[in-house]
Amino acid sequence: MRSSSIIQKPMLEALAGRPVEPNPLWLMRQAGRYLPEYRELRKKALNFLDFCFRPELAIEATLQPIRRYGFDGAVLFSDILTVPWALGQKVEFTNGEGPKLEPIRSEADIDRLSWDGAIERLSPVYRTVAGVAAQLPEKTALIGFAGAPWTIASYMVQGGGDRDFIAARSMALSDPAAFGRLIDILVGATVDHLSAQIQAGAELVQLFDSWSGVLSEDQFRRWSIEPTRAIADALRQKHPTIPIIGFPRGAGGMLGDYARLAGVTAIGIDTQTPLSWALSQLPDGFPVQGNLDPVALVVGGKTLADAVATILDKARDRPLIFNLGHGVPQVTPPEHVAELVRLVRGA
Ligand code: CP3
Repeated sequence: MRSSSIIQKPMLEALAGRPVEPNPLWLMRQAGRYLPEYRELRKKALNFLDFCFRPELAIEATLQPIRRYGFDGAVLFSDILTVPWALGQKVEFTNGEGPKLEPIRSEADIDRLSWDGAIERLSPVYRTVAGVAAQLPEKTALIGFAGAPWTIASYMVQGGGDRDFIAARSMALSDPAAFGRLIDILVGATVDHLSAQIQAGAELVQLFDSWSGVLSEDQFRRWSIEPTRAIADALRQKHPTIPIIGFPRGAGGMLGDYARLAGVTAIGIDTQTPLSWALSQLPDGFPVQGNLDPVALVVGGKTLADAVATILDKARDRPLIFNLGHGVPQVTPPEHVAELVRLVRGA
């Protein structure tokens, strides 16, 4: 879908590089277990992947936070690990323990992955996108997403979440040819997966590179910036105007290079990165997203009000999409989120 000359959705305005007052806002993990209505809905699914693949449930989960808070962005309810699942890897979400995957440790394991028919296997996700698109308020933008190849490969090689991802980083360093094949598979898969979301109605996409922060400088260039660039270039061949938000969590000193070289439209800033410094590293007018400390949201009150005011002040006159520096914690009181929305909107 091409944007018209008068863009009306605040998120798309900011992504076009224009500062918007009040700042558009949405929250990473805005749908989730901190919401009682989510916990109720979740009971209807056999497990988390079943939840993601049942459009009637996933549509409802996407819309719950929109109804409650009127965010400017509705993020597709799904997960980044649907891509390894669609490639044929065993993926399980055990309750409370996070994802478990059958780890990839050799070239033979990589050879077994297959993207053939994957778009069909993922078709419930695109039906969810279309279903949400049909029901959104007119100012709300629909956000598609995928994990960036490094982050997905980390889970695939490690077999689950990890603080250090030593197995994935070892493979990347010791056998870059094999690891590069895995990354190339993921680049192709991600382009197809995002493209299908865009065709179904996603108006912008976010690439979550949640674990880019464990990479050294040259590894960051090779496994975070380069694959992201390849995805952005290929996606724009098909969808020339699609805005892409990159979220290289933990990028630290690599932030400026990522913004200049990864081909993204906007950059998500994590909790730890000083916002003023981040802005100083970015090209003038480069749209940013972030970066409220999720724990300030948990705490609420004056702590929250002060933290919000600081961000709004630092990003004054910049195209800022207000968000957290990472996802909404499960222990967040829902009324603190309502308060956050009031604070950002100045109501
Ligand atoms: O509201 C939204 O942001 C949209 C949906 C969404 C989910 N996961 C739902 C989810 C999105 C965009 C994600 C992205 C995701 N998934 C990331 C990148 C963002 C980040 O947090 O850095 C990652 C690393 C994952 C992988 C993943 N999925 C983990 C590590 C976990 C377990 C942690 C947990 O909170 O349980 C999940 C499960 C998951 N994904 C849940 C939700 C709502 C909780 C599952 C449940 O309800 O049982």
